Parts: sequence; structure tokens; C-alpha cells
Amino acid sequence: MYGSLMAENSATARSYQEEAHAIHARDVHFDFSTVPLHYIPGEVVATHVVNVMHLVLPEGERAMAACLAEALPEIADERLREEVTGFVGQESMHAGSHEGARAHLQSIGLDVDSYVAKVAWLVDRALGDHGLTGKAKQQWLRERLGLFAGMEHFTAVIGEWLLETSTLDELGMHPTMLDLVRWHGAEEVEHRSVVFDAYMHVDGGYARRARTGVLASALLLPLFVVSTAYLYRQDPSPRKGRFWGAQFVSATRRQVIPSFTTFFTEMPRYLSPRFHPSQLGSMDNALRYLAQSPAVRG
Ligand SMILES: [Fe+2]
Ligand SMILES: [Fe+2]
Repeated sequence: MYGSLMAENSATARSYQEEAHAIHARDVHFDFSTVPLHYIPGEVVATHVVNVMHLVLPEGERAMAACLAEALPEIADERLREEVTGFVGQESMHAGSHEGARAHLQSIGLDVDSYVAKVAWLVDRALGDHGLTGKAKQQWLRERLGLFAGMEHFTAVIGEWLLETSTLDELGMHPTMLDLVRWHGAEEVEHRSVVFDAYMHVDGGYARRARTGVLASALLLPLFVVSTAYLYRQDPSPRKGRFWGAQFVSATRRQVIPSFTTFFTEMPRYLSPRFHPSQLGSMDNALRYLAQSPAVRG
């Protein structure tokens, strides 16, 4: 079934009729009660890089779910509509689950609520529907679909990394947090094509796809760096180790976190006119993890 998907590599609006796999939201449960502040033992900054997912991603995911829901009336292809509906459900579930982790971190002394409020405000200003009507509304919808397609490229690439790395297991990352990020990463791999296909269906222009792709990577990188630095400052622990930037570089070198250079090195692939997200890594890895994830099975 995936063979036909992988063979599909032309960046045009495609029909979903041949694809049997359906995207759907999974009901998951996480118990954060035993998660410590530094849940990757001895890795303060790497823990905070993961924390950015709990703080920043839910706001973006909510904006993305709203944008895709807004695009539904523009999508005639029945199967693509089904995929978009499943996608909206998955992203809403991601946002809710990370919020659980966020509430737990706040309760054990990492004050993040005011930062989250700022991120929510910023995301709404940058990526909300702005109450537009008519042609302006349609153009803004297309622009956001392009931006979100670009962002989804990075969540799929990072999702693939999370599924393949053994470093986090070796370091003894808390199993609940490891399951949370791997479940999320696996669903990012699973639904990697949906926003791209919605964009190709509704707009399909290469110039907008390229421009919004570059813009998406240019927005995500500083957001990650600024948020990590903020979390390190907020960390109340007396033993936070050396300067956060030095820890960040060290964690990258030891592959505890994905390299920030990903935001540059992935661009040529995304910008290829023949690129399609189904060309990214193994879908089987994602589905295998989802079949055994404790949160999914629980
Ligand atoms: Fe997500
Ligand atoms: Fe996603």
C-alpha cells in the first residue's frame, strides 16, 4: 500500500483514491505524575529543547487545525477531505497532550504560563484568520496552507529522528515523556503529506510553496532558540550547569537533540519542484511505534 505512495513523487495535486491508509486521531493517556524537572537525566538544556514542544507547538497546532478546518470547503477530493479531518483531530490531540505536560511542569516549579500566553498572542497575530472576507480571506488561507506545509516538513523530519534515535533511551529519558514525543513524532510522520496535499489542491503554485517554505524555517529556528534560552533562565534548579549555549552545542554534537542545521540542510529537498512528503523516511517505523506506544495502548 505504501509502495504506491512512495512511487508518487510528482508535486502536483494528487488523488487519494489509491491510498488505503486512513489518518485518524488516537485516544491517548499520559500520566505525568512521576516526571521530574530534568526528565533527560543530566541534560538540562536538551530537556528544555524538548520543553519547547510543550510550550510553543500546541499554539501552532491549534492555529493549524483551525486553518485546515477552514480549507475543508475548498477541497473537493473526498479522500483528501477525510485525511484533513483526521489531521485536524490528530493535531488537536497533540496540543491537548502537550498541555498536560506543560501543566505538570508548571506545578513542579517551572513557571511557563506567562510565556505561553505571549506565544498564544503571537501565533494568533501571525497565523490567525484575521477576520478577513472574500478574496483577501482566500489568499490568506492559501498563504497559511503554504506556511503550515513548510512547518510540517520539519515536524516530519524531527518525528523521523525521534523514532530512529537510541540516544534518549540510553540517557534514561523518563518513559512517559519519551512516549509522548515518540507518539507525536510518529503521527507527524504518518500525516506528513496532508497539509502539503491540501496546499497543492487549493493553490498548488510553486512560487508560493517555495517562499512560504523558506519563511517557515526562518520562523521556527529563532523560536526554538529564544524559547530554549527563556526556559533555561526560568529553570529554578540551583545546578543548571554551564552556559546554555555551550550545553546546546554539546547536546547537538552528542546527538541528544536534532541539529539546528536541519533548518538549513532540509531546504534544498523541500524546494525541489518534484518534492513530495511521501519521499521522506520510513512510514513503517511510524506505524510500528504507534502499534506499541504505551499511551496508545493504555
Ligand atoms: Fe503535531
Ligand atoms: Fe503535524
